[in-house]
Amino acid sequence: MKRDFVELDDLSPEEGWKVIDWALGIKRGSFEEFMKKRVVGLYFRKPSTRTRVSFEVGVAKLGGTCIFLQEGSLQASRGEELRDTARTLSEYLDLIVVRAEHQFVKEMARWAKVPIINALTEMTHPCQVLGDVLTLCELFGKDLKGVKVAYLGDGNNVCNTLLIGAGMFGFDLSVASPKGYEPSEEYLSRALRLSKSSGARIEVINDPKKAIEGANVIYTDVWFSMNHSKDENRRRDLEPFRVSEALIENRNVKIMHCLPANKGEEIEEKVFEEHADEIFLQAKNRMFAQMGLLKLLLAK
Ligand code: CP
Repeated sequence: MKRDFVELDDLSPEEGWKVIDWALGIKRGSFEEFMKKRVVGLYFRKPSTRTRVSFEVGVAKLGGTCIFLQEGSLQASRGEELRDTARTLSEYLDLIVVRAEHQFVKEMARWAKVPIINALTEMTHPCQVLGDVLTLCELFGKDLKGVKVAYLGDGNNVCNTLLIGAGMFGFDLSVASPKGYEPSEEYLSRALRLSKSSGARIEVINDPKKAIEGANVIYTDVWFSMNHSKDENRRRDLEPFRVSEALIENRNVKIMHCLPANKGEEIEEKVFEEHADEIFLQAKNRMFAQMGLLKLLLAK
């Protein structure tokens, strides 16, 4: 039976750790070309730098090929039904990576006969968090118990997925968002369920200073995601959650950002540049985590 990766917790925690272990091994140079003669479709309805390029390069390094599917050049742009597009693409491709609206990705998974990987929806970004967990393991070692991540800002798709990541992989997560910008309650309750086994301590609060107390990592993301228009009220509400020198004081803390960044908004440029090593390690690790994921979904 085919396996889809629409949500991070479509993997069991054991499978999640397997992906991380494989990613670490692949990064050290131990991998087979298990994608040889396999072709992956990249169906992106929204812009992407990291996700697109890391899949294209990762698949090539594993011996496979990617085809980038521009919707404007597909019959989908002329109204061909999604279920027909999904069934047609399944006849040629071995796996499809989809960046689109959440419902679109779920429908694609429902109708495609080959595995679907979610490459970001407005609800969740599971590939990102697999890469982030790989980064945490490299920074702090594989036992993430007691490692505290503070996420500051908009409770968006990345934040929803970090909640699941904490629940699955056992790191502590304190989310601080303004009132009305908190992450999804559904993702929070799934994370809390998972945390019963992993021991992760998870909270969602509204005070950024409290969230960063004892944190090993401060994580942030843009205030205006692809589904938001620029709005001054939103900017004003999120201002106190900016990752700034004044907020961090002299804490010995790592900074993470999934990118792209809007420096001066969610993070000060000076803080970003001082922590560029961590931030671009995160970007680098997207590729290795996805290579591990492909192994789980496709390797015989
Ligand atoms: N973080 C991330 O998904 O980046 P892209 O939007 O560039 O793919």
